[in-house]
Amino acid sequence: MNAALKNIEAALTEHYGWSSSPALREKIGAAVEVKAERLRVAPEEYCRLAASSFSEMLALVEEVSLGETWFFREPHQFDYLRDVIFPSLIESGVERPRIWSAACSTGEEAYSLAIAFEQFVPSYPQAQAEVFATDVRNRALMDASQARYKEDSLREVSPQTLGRYFERGTNSTGGPDGTHVVIADVRRRVTFRRVNLLERAYWKSIPNRFDLIVCSNLLTFLSNTAARQMVTNLTNSLREGGYLMVAPGEESLVVFPQLTHAKEQLSFFQKPG
Ligand SMILES: C[S@@+](CC[C@H](N)C(=O)[O-])C[C@H]1O[C@@H](n2cnc3c(N)ncnc32)[C@H](O)[C@@H]1O
Repeated sequence: MNAALKNIEAALTEHYGWSSSPALREKIGAAVEVKAERLRVAPEEYCRLAASSFSEMLALVEEVSLGETWFFREPHQFDYLRDVIFPSLIESGVERPRIWSAACSTGEEAYSLAIAFEQFVPSYPQAQAEVFATDVRNRALMDASQARYKEDSLREVSPQTLGRYFERGTNSTGGPDGTHVVIADVRRRVTFRRVNLLERAYWKSIPNRFDLIVCSNLLTFLSNTAARQMVTNLTNSLREGGYLMVAPGEESLVVFPQLTHAKEQLSFFQKPG
């Protein structure tokens, strides 16, 4: 089984940029167990099947969980967006900032960005953000477009924000089901698309440049080569003067001579204008 798993891991590293590690092998092992059980085959046999079939490899990726996500994951970063980054974009004349949540998982980050912008704009009623959100897992994106979340995802959401930007989810009889659904006004600001950020062709097809790219908790899973390439591609997709935000702790993975740290927040970078 170990050798079969290593083969799968090598293929995923090649196609998705994931850094090979015991932790990744464990996550892949768990995903293989789930898929093998569903197909009623032995895990070793499933590994052989996945290694020889592109579509089965895609299906396996859907099962590999690279970690959870939640709304306003790093509250101080969202404060910085509202207090510094969004005002700076508006002051530079950008009324409809284009924001990209590059590895959005089930959508919490993308909606948090749209909500944070809405919370900032009352003083600039003409300004509206467009949030583009991508991930490699279709199932995560399907959940994201449902915009229905349980308590765990809402742990950093204040009661005021919950009341203003969410509705209570209901069950088939119309009673509350314990979930919260992002309101339509915020949902229509966010567009989801499946993208493998390791595919070269994708980067050639980006039509406009972004004012802010958030690539958070992805670089840490990538090999050094893939992370370096990712930062180069992200930077090339920023307009001049645009910002890149990564997760706290990922700053050292942003190696790109053109980028400068944005003022006092190390996890924000700016492309010179
Ligand atoms: C831990 S989640 C990050 C979610 C969110 N950005 C956050 O910080 O909370 C990492 C996400 O990266 C996605 N991912 C991994 N490899 C990818 C790739 N090659 N292209 C696009 N997305 C990828 C995974 O599917 C997963 O949803």
